Amino acid sequence: MTAITISDQEYREFSRFLEAQCGIVLGDSKQYLVRSRLSPLVSRFSTGTLSDLLKQVVTGRNSELKVAAVDAMTTNETLWFRDTYPYTVLAEKLLPELAANKRPIKIWSSASSSGQEPYSIAMVALETQIKKPGMLPMGVQITGTDISTAMLDTCKTGIYDSLALGRGLSLERKRQFFEDAGSGSMRIVEKVRRMVNFRPQNLMSSYALLGKFDIIFCRNVLIYFSPEMKSKVLNQMAASLNPGGYLILGASESLTGLTDKFEMIRCNPGIIYKLK
Ligand SMILES: C[S@@+](CC[C@H](N)C(=O)[O-])C[C@H]1O[C@@H](n2cnc3c(N)ncnc32)[C@H](O)[C@@H]1O
Repeated sequence: MTAITISDQEYREFSRFLEAQCGIVLGDSKQYLVRSRLSPLVSRFSTGTLSDLLKQVVTGRNSELKVAAVDAMTTNETLWFRDTYPYTVLAEKLLPELAANKRPIKIWSSASSSGQEPYSIAMVALETQIKKPGMLPMGVQITGTDISTAMLDTCKTGIYDSLALGRGLSLERKRQFFEDAGSGSMRIVEKVRRMVNFRPQNLMSSYALLGKFDIIFCRNVLIYFSPEMKSKVLNQMAASLNPGGYLILGASESLTGLTDKFEMIRCNPGIIYKLK
């Protein structure tokens, strides 16, 4: 078997391509990542060698391969109710406050990966409706987007294996919001699935067609982008929020030096951002 190698030039060209396509910055010495994530595409697309595949990707000759290569380079790590505090703040502060506007509350999960984030939001909204009937008379509409079409397919089916189910879900929530799907997998029940509308969205493109939101979850995706790209995304998100809207970042992410469109709100626990 021949060793799969890529030259420094091939790596540089692919890194430039990837950043231009989706904002992901590879940095130095991530050849191993490119090799391990793209090698499976060599046989799938019958490109001969990894070098041939990289050439076809960066020249954009094969658009299906281009999409598959970007998809393969995304990191989709996620879990249910990640970090807990965003969901506590949602239930205790944001939903009660926004319900006073007397219109549907619109929430965007902007890097939804395999769906755990938007479906966790939907479960919180349903729990609120059960605990406080009448508090959300106009309902909650959730949009889940991601650049990865493979991830969006998982989101839409709403079926999760035992490994995914074991990360962040209480027994009570599993019992209430999931049904058996065979072989140890479970499917999100229809009343939760229908609260979320999934669609592809590259955060580098315009968000104008998505409409306006009251809350945007932008969690654990900015970490992959350059500072310039982070600023662009955050300023576009500010323009996608209704007046008084909120932005929720990942636990290790901050707005420092990136945008002046938000004020920081300390929630104890956690920090969220409000549109100025
Ligand atoms: C680590 S996951 C975060 C999932 C979830 N927000 C969470 O915090 O658990 C990052 C997601 O960002 C998506 N992503 C990466 N670049 C993107 C881009 N330019 N536009 C939209 N989504 C992107 C990836 O496909 C991946 O599903």
